[in-house]
Amino acid sequence: MSCFQCSLCHQPLSLHDACYRCVGQHSFDLAKDGYVNLLPVQFKHSKDPGDALLMMAVRCAFLDAGHYQPLRDRVIAAVAALTPEPGLRWLDIGCGEGYYIAALVDQLKHHQPQAEVYGMDIAKNAVRSAAKRYRQVRFCVASSQRLPFVDASLDGIMRIYAPSNPAELRRTLCPGGRAADGDSRPAPSLSA
Ligand SMILES: C[S@@+](CC[C@H](N)C(=O)[O-])C[C@H]1O[C@@H](n2cnc3c(N)ncnc32)[C@H](O)[C@@H]1O
Ligand SMILES: [Zn+2]
Repeated sequence: MSCFQCSLCHQPLSLHDACYRCVGQHSFDLAKDGYVNLLPVQFKHSKDPGDALLMMAVRCAFLDAGHYQPLRDRVIAAVAALTPEPGLRWLDIGCGEGYYIAALVDQLKHHQPQAEVYGMDIAKNAVRSAAKRYRQVRFCVASSQRLPFVDASLDGIMRIYAPSNPAELRRTLCPGGRAADGDSRPAPSLSA
C-alpha cells in the first residue's frame, strides 16, 4: 500500500504490475519514466497546467548551477531539525524538477532506508523530468488543491515557492506531522 489515494473515489491505491489500483477498480498507470498521473482530465483547468517547458528548463539550469544550494541545505537541515526522527513519509508539494526532494530523499534514506518520499507537481513535464532523474522518489502529477494522499498518511510536507491548500495539508498530515514551508507567506497552523 502507498500513501496515494484514488483521485476519483478517495480509496487507497496500491501498486500491482506497474498500475496503481483502488478497491473500486479505478486504475492509474505508472508511466515508463516512473511517475503516476493522478490528475483526472475533469479536474484540469487548462491543457498543460503548471510551469511551462521553457520556464522549467531555465529554472533547472539555474538550480543545477548551484545558486540555490545554500537554500537547499538550509531546507534539508530544517527538516532534520523538525523532529529527532524526521518521519518516514514526506511529500514535496510543487516539486518542479525535484531539486529539493532529491536532497531530502538522500538524507532520509541514509538514516531510514524504509522512508517513503513523494514529489508532486501539476506540471507533467516537470514530474516526468524529475522521475527520470530521481528514481528513489515516488512522483505524481496532481494539484495541491486536491492532494491525492490518504487522510493522516504523511509525517511531513514541504513546499518551496509553490501554492498549497491549508485544509489539504491538515487532512493529509498524521497527528504530530510537520510542515516545512519555504514560502515567505505565513504558514497555516499545522498542529495536525
Ligand atoms: C516557482 S515553482 C517552484 C518549484 C520547486 N518547488 C522549486 O523551488 O524549484 C512552482 C511550482 O509549482 C507548480 N504548481 C503550480 N500550481 C500548482 C498546483 N495547483 N498544484 C501543484 N503544483 C503546482 C508549478 O508547476 C511549479 O513547478
Ligand atoms: Zn477509486
